[in-house]
Amino acid sequence: MADALKIGIAGLGTVGASLVRILQDRHEMLATTCGRAIETTAVTARDRNRDRGVDLSQIKWFDDAVSLARDADIDVFVELMGGSGDPAYSAVKAALQRGIHVVTANKALLAAHGIELAKIAEEKGALLNYEAAVAGGIPVIKALRESMTGNTISRVYGIMNGTCNYILTKMEKEELSFEACLKEAQRLGYAEADPAFDIEGNDTAHKLSILTSLAFGTAIAADDIYLEGITNISIDDIHAAADLGYRIKLLGVAQRTESGIEQRVHPTMVPYDSVIAQVDGVTNAVAIESDILGELLMVGPGAGGNATASAVLGDIADIAKSRPGAQHVPAFGRPTNALLPYKRARIQSHEGGYFIRLKVVDRTGVFASIATRMADNGISLESIMQHSKHLMESGEPQTIILVTHATSEHSVRDAIKAIKSEGYLVGEPQVIRIERPKAN
Ligand code: HSE
Repeated sequence: MADALKIGIAGLGTVGASLVRILQDRHEMLATTCGRAIETTAVTARDRNRDRGVDLSQIKWFDDAVSLARDADIDVFVELMGGSGDPAYSAVKAALQRGIHVVTANKALLAAHGIELAKIAEEKGALLNYEAAVAGGIPVIKALRESMTGNTISRVYGIMNGTCNYILTKMEKEELSFEACLKEAQRLGYAEADPAFDIEGNDTAHKLSILTSLAFGTAIAADDIYLEGITNISIDDIHAAADLGYRIKLLGVAQRTESGIEQRVHPTMVPYDSVIAQVDGVTNAVAIESDILGELLMVGPGAGGNATASAVLGDIADIAKSRPGAQHVPAFGRPTNALLPYKRARIQSHEGGYFIRLKVVDRTGVFASIATRMADNGISLESIMQHSKHLMESGEPQTIILVTHATSEHSVRDAIKAIKSEGYLVGEPQVIRIERPKAN
């Protein structure tokens, strides 16, 4: 049997501790499968004394990640600290510069520095593997990077943040408040260190930027993503969506259009009878539409210690099985010098259906005025309804809900501007884009 693969792990939170445990418990099984043992030889974390329920006594401890990456006798550096900056950035860079393979779950790091790191990996003949960075345990990176080579991809979209999906599902099914659901997601170890990254959509955006690069062969453009989180979604929106035959999901969508690539993250209404609408809780789903394969939909655990550790383990096992000197798969599917420049399609040119919820003062002619403003902007309506338990009581603001046929974002924005100028609107309108899977 070949020499053991020596790994150093930086970060012993939920994922790191699960990984150390799995590597210890399945040592024999992994050695047989990979043709060589996998040994954790070095670790580092913020707090040496914390009880993580795993035995670290035989593993060399480093006080910081950069020294581990620079000095440890390892073949693979596993980065599970998170964060786009230091220490993760310097540590990963230091490891790659030594020609040491890197496995990371760090989507924020890749969104910010992925191409630079991939270039170093290429130059040094090292692998940069990051299956766990997107959609937890779902093997979407491998699917895009390897299995779908040769396909032309038109759209990739999905539920990529377990915390948000958990919150939206629990709000709907258990009628709990947003705050209570978020607390529970944090307790279960799904949320980011700063949960604002989850609920404001940044985490989904980081993941989407990676998928966009893999799907379209372009450089990562994480700053070019249109972003809306779920903090604005109320239980009223969830109920109205259900009444209309939709569910609300936080989707990341990247799509090839005539004017460029559209990347957007926002709460989205998806048809109730679509598979993606039925993806509940911490589960993630990623759909890829392409010309040769057609539509591929992958559903699976999106966050949490074991799901993420499973993807990290797969990446480590790939390295353990690789032959020395073999040509490596480029980190973003093609050599970095063959990545195409990214051309952004602006959100204003997005075309699709829209759900619009308006609160208006109760007076004659409002309904007609709204319909007129929509028509003025060339928007065709699928439905318009007044939502009220007290239709006959005057004085109370009334809720009007519109669902449009496919139209453009700029038409919707212009129509809303015109409606606002009429003076009957109470508060801000709620606008939620509708996304249809290919089959719907
Ligand atoms: N906070 C992330 C989520 C963890 O909720 O999906 C997995 O990337």
